[in-house]
Parts: sequence; structure tokens; C-alpha cells
Amino acid sequence: MEVRPTTTNNNILVVGAGAMGSQIAMTAALAGYATTVHDLSRTQLDDAAAALRKRTDKMVQSGKLAADDAEAAHARLQFSTDLEAVAPPADFVIEAATERLDIKREIFATLGHLTPRHAILATNSSTLGSSKVAEASGRPAQVCNMHFFNPALVMECVEVVQHPGTSQATVDTTMSLARSMGKSPVLINREVPGFIANRLMGAVQKEALALLAGGVASKDDIDATAKQALRHPMGPFELMDLVGLDVIDDIARATHAQTGDPADAPNEAVLALVREGKLGRKSGAGWYTYGH
Ligand code: 3HC
Repeated sequence: MEVRPTTTNNNILVVGAGAMGSQIAMTAALAGYATTVHDLSRTQLDDAAAALRKRTDKMVQSGKLAADDAEAAHARLQFSTDLEAVAPPADFVIEAATERLDIKREIFATLGHLTPRHAILATNSSTLGSSKVAEASGRPAQVCNMHFFNPALVMECVEVVQHPGTSQATVDTTMSLARSMGKSPVLINREVPGFIANRLMGAVQKEALALLAGGVASKDDIDATAKQALRHPMGPFELMDLVGLDVIDDIARATHAQTGDPADAPNEAVLALVREGKLGRKSGAGWYTYGH
């Protein structure tokens, strides 16, 4: 029997302290939730804590956040390598771990055992529909995708995606959690590869890569056109660097595996950069070079 999720006293657990997980957790803490970030790596947690401190310092300096509110949010945020200790009090879990199905299945199975029966288990995955991990959790009706965008502290959209067995109560609670975090969620009724945003982003990127490969224009001019003619906040090459070229490649692989469409196949130029260790902003170089 499904247990109706509670909407009070929410205690949020984020699994995975990468760029997405850490900023999702900070967003929750800023919204007033007692929040824990779990990662197996202590170094990853320490790096996340330092990066979030820098971020909120900037928000305070630019007048976007009161210093007291920043301190209160940091006080609500915990970092832990011990999932057995931090899962039992969680009302809502957002999994933002590596995009590998075997890893995610194991996490959902563990969370199914460790979290209270009312807890909703959401995945931030953009490529794996939650139906792929739902059964492993032992409570499929309380599983859905809750997909945030990079940088998660800033981007307003959250895609909430239901699988065929997701309950209405789970959808309602996830949508209202996103709203209470200051986001504007959209509901996706059916799992499709890439949901909405990554399909749109992928279409633009595909065209940009084809224009570059065909020698039609330089990446700088393609980016300038996207920004100046279409008012995109970033050009497609800049955006690939922000998201991470390894992530772009992973998305293409997962999409291609699901659709089988040759047009969705991983891009050779992106793959070449990944092989050189040029992953975008996070590694200091990708399509462009960045000073850290
Ligand atoms: N982390 C957190 N905050 C950031 C940030 C980051 N990495 N980069 C910028 N910001 C903040 C800045 O601190 C600033 O905040 P402030 O107004 O409080 O000072 C605000 O964002 C605006 O930043 P800037 O003035 O420096 O620069 P821009 O106005 O160019 O904005 C941007 C930066 C918000 C990243 C903007 O360029 C943008 O919206 N780009 C498009 C991002 C996008 O499309 N994301 C979706 C990617 S797809 C995805 O994530 C899905 C996944 O599955 C792959």
C-alpha cells in the first residue's frame, strides 16, 4: 500500500555532491529545508562545501542574499559520507549521482531500505526515466524524475517526469516541493528520451556542430549568432562547456541507445575533446579555454 507523502517537516537528502547535487542541496537549504548531501567521497563533499560557500559569498556581495540568511542556510546544510546515518530521517530524496543505471539501481534499492516508508525518491537524471529504478526501490509509486538545470541555483525550470506507476500524490508533492524551492516546475506525462529541455538543447547543438564541421562558420560566430540573433543567454558551444562535454557525450549515448536514430549518435568532435580531457569549464578547457 502506498503511504501518502508528508509535506511537513521536510528533511531533504541529496545523493551525489557533483555540480548538480551540491547546487540542488543549497537551493533546498536556502528555501528553509534541513538538507543533507551524501557522497561516498569526502573530497567531493569538501569541494562542494567550498564551492557553495564561494557561491553564497558572491550572492551576498551582489546584494541577492542577506548575510544572515546565507549563514542560516549553511547551518541547515550537512555533508555526509554515511548513507545509513542520513537516510532514515529523509522525507524526500533527490538522487544526483553518476548517470549509470547499475549505480542508480543500487542507490534506489538501498534508499528503499533505509528511508521511511512515506519518503519520495526522485532522480535528477536527464537520460534515465525513473521507471528504470522504480522497482528496485520497492515503492515504485513514490518514484519520479525531478530534473534540475545547470546552474541549479539560478535556473528556474524543473522537469517533473512521471513513469506509468508514479502516483498523483508523488507528482503533487514533487511539484509543490519544486515551487517551494523557488522553481517553476513543468510536468512531463510520459518518459521520452531527453524530456523537453534536452531535446530542444540537443537540436540546437546538432545544428551548431554540423555548421562548424561543414566549415560554414567559426564556433565564435555561431555562438554570437545564437546570442545576438536569437537572444539565447549562451551560444551552443558555450553551453556545452557549461554542462560538461562528458555529460553532453553521455546524454547522446543514452539517447541514441533508446532511439536508435543515427541523428542522435554521439558527436565525434565532442568525443575528441573528451578524450583529450577537455570537459568544458570544470576542467579549464573545452571548446573554449577558462582561467580558474
Ligand atoms: N553557479 C551558480 N550561479 C551562477 C553560475 C554558476 N555556475 N554562473 C552564474 N551564476 C549566477 C551569477 O552569480 C549571477 O548571479 P547574481 O545575479 O546573483 O550575481 C547570475 O547567475 C548571472 O550570472 P552572470 O551575470 O555572471 O552571467 P549571465 O547573466 O550570463 O548568466 C547563466 C549566467 C545564468 C549561466 C546564463 O548564461 C544562462 O542562463 N545560460 C544558459 C544556461 C542553460 O541553458 N542551462 C541549462 C543547461 S542543460 C542542463 O542543465 C540539463 C542537463 O541535463 C544537462
